[in-house]
Amino acid sequence: MDQLIFPPFTNRNNRLFLENHDLCELCSIHGTPLLVTSEKRLRGNYRRIHDAFSSLYSHFGIRYAIKSNSNPAVISILRDEGSGMDVSSINELNIARYCGVSVDKILFSPNNASRDELMEALKIGAAINFDDIGQMNVLRGKHPETASFRINLNIEKGEFPGTTTAGPNAKFGMPESYAAEAYEKAREIGVRKFGIHVMIGSNVLSPDHFGHVSREIFNAAGRISQKTGIKFDFIDLGGGFGVPYRPGDKELDIDNVASSVIDNLEKASTQYGLGKPELLIEPGRYISADTTALLGKVTNIKKYTKTFVGTDIGMNILLRTPLYGSYHHMVLANDLSRALSGTKEIVGQICENTDRIAKEREFPEAKIDDIIAVFTSGSYVSSMSSTYNGRARAKEILLSDGRVDVVRERDEFEDFVRNTKIPDRLLNKSKK
Ligand SMILES: Cc1ncc(COP(=O)(O)O)c(C=O)c1O
Repeated sequence: MDQLIFPPFTNRNNRLFLENHDLCELCSIHGTPLLVTSEKRLRGNYRRIHDAFSSLYSHFGIRYAIKSNSNPAVISILRDEGSGMDVSSINELNIARYCGVSVDKILFSPNNASRDELMEALKIGAAINFDDIGQMNVLRGKHPETASFRINLNIEKGEFPGTTTAGPNAKFGMPESYAAEAYEKAREIGVRKFGIHVMIGSNVLSPDHFGHVSREIFNAAGRISQKTGIKFDFIDLGGGFGVPYRPGDKELDIDNVASSVIDNLEKASTQYGLGKPELLIEPGRYISADTTALLGKVTNIKKYTKTFVGTDIGMNILLRTPLYGSYHHMVLANDLSRALSGTKEIVGQICENTDRIAKEREFPEAKIDDIIAVFTSGSYVSSMSSTYNGRARAKEILLSDGRVDVVRERDEFEDFVRNTKIPDRLLNKSKK
């Protein structure tokens, strides 16, 4: 069987291309590990999901989830498209501002934030999406102008248990039964604008799921509004819009999702008199995942009990597989014609036996210096990577209309010792 590639990548003379660039050639110039991103795809993904909703409901906005890919170049492109940002920490909030995103298009949704962090967000003037009433109480009566609460609907859905963020086992949000008290307290301490937020789980490919979740949160908003008299300025459905990772995965029908969400909003609005709140969504993966390939080099082949293909792209670069058991499709970028030939473990350079980016994967016979391309690497790859074992994170390249821009340098030795200090008494003065 041949190696299968994912769009927007193309096969030219059996080599993998993105936006007319030979990815192996980029590896020769920039080295590996390397992440290469298509600006055209990024803008296209944003416009597809934005248009699906905004064509049906004009009071609509996107808050891109920065946690999925926080490279300032990516954020700047999305700011240029008109996107707002969903941020989960003060550093993410400041990255958004650094990229020129106006504060009124940023929603700060931290989990178990400290008082200092919440106070910093107040100083900046960001709207805060409190995880529960306890997080608001941490501020001891101080408050943002705009606040919302994350409601933990009793729906458990996500590709993996580790990416399921609602339901009885989730550490996030609060049940609807606590919401009226929280909103009344917020109004009492001076909050003037209100939102309501939900985030169920990540990488869901079924349109029905979004129909279900939206119906539940719109109805919850309606009930809370009737109980408290609060008018919601916005309702935020969170992220979770899935993308294909495996050959054969069907794309999420985003027009279908948008039409069932808007239909549900209109029904709930009529039933509960919700008016025309702003509808927000927080996609991360849908916008950035398939824009990028991770490229690494084959550094060793071992054939004993199993075949191990050793590479320079281990769990420090691609944590998702060891962390969740996720699947990322891979090919040999320098020879797409090489036939699949039995199962292999594709592993990295990290001193952990969990350091496998693919397990029992049907893959071609690989040779030292082959280039492996890992698809769907634009989300939760760079942003989850680390320098464990003293290994540098990937260099990052942005391709835009013939241009090749380096948007993150690879870590150098100085980066590994930055922020550390050897006390004077321990300095080795003799420097052998
Ligand atoms: C609050 C919140 N919003 C948005 C997202 C983005 O999710 P996704 O990348 O699946 O769209 C997440 C991811 O965990 C999240 O926790």
